[in-house]
Amino acid sequence: MLTIVKHPLIEVKLDILRDENTKSKEFREALEEIASIMSYEVFKDLEVYDSDEIITTPTGAALHKTKLKKKIVLAPILRAGIGMVDGVRNMIPTARTGHIGIFRDEKTLLPHEYYFKLPEVKDPLVVVIDPMLATGGSATAAIAAIKKRGFTDIRLMCLVGVQEGVDAVEKAFPDVHIYLAALDDHLNKNGYIVPGLGDAGDRIFGTK
Ligand code: PRP
Ligand code: URA
Repeated sequence: MLTIVKHPLIEVKLDILRDENTKSKEFREALEEIASIMSYEVFKDLEVYDSDEIITTPTGAALHKTKLKKKIVLAPILRAGIGMVDGVRNMIPTARTGHIGIFRDEKTLLPHEYYFKLPEVKDPLVVVIDPMLATGGSATAAIAAIKKRGFTDIRLMCLVGVQEGVDAVEKAFPDVHIYLAALDDHLNKNGYIVPGLGDAGDRIFGTK
């Protein structure tokens, strides 16, 4: 299932990311802010319960502290996924974070896994995070690697995608809900999303 998270604040901030003149600092800030806003949609169906912990309000009333039923694990795909993690973690401070190292070969566009570490948490909701969903190769490889380790409840949170990437993930993993802020037009001959925002990792980390 695909959800396009529509919000006027996201649209305004997305243009900051799309603008080739945006500097790395402003790029990182806008990316993190969009990730925070998207979190409202990605996590809106989480169940909560009244825990045994008691909080007291300034009026003296006592209440059971509300907690999330499921543990949340964030799984950013290195490098660019890192740019969205703090935005999500600001909304869910109790989330634990793993890392999945995957890069796409510039010629073949095929994904290569070089690192994998997720926290040891029982039956969590794992949210794979990456700003770009292009061919879908990296996201599909990340989800396959997560499933191989026995995790079953997985969502994919990206920023900009194209139909080709959405189709690739949906075909491989129909049970994984995909969230995007924008569905762009097409991939160019180098596998870049158009209009897109360029190379997300390079723009976040200023590597080019
Ligand atoms: C980018 C992006 C995704 C991937 C998307 O990473 O962050 O992980 O490409 O493309 P795909 O859908 O065709 O697989 P890249 O491989 O450039 O690595 P980097 O973040 O280390 O720069
Ligand atoms: N990876 C990126 O960083 N940008 C794209 O447009 C496609 C893949």
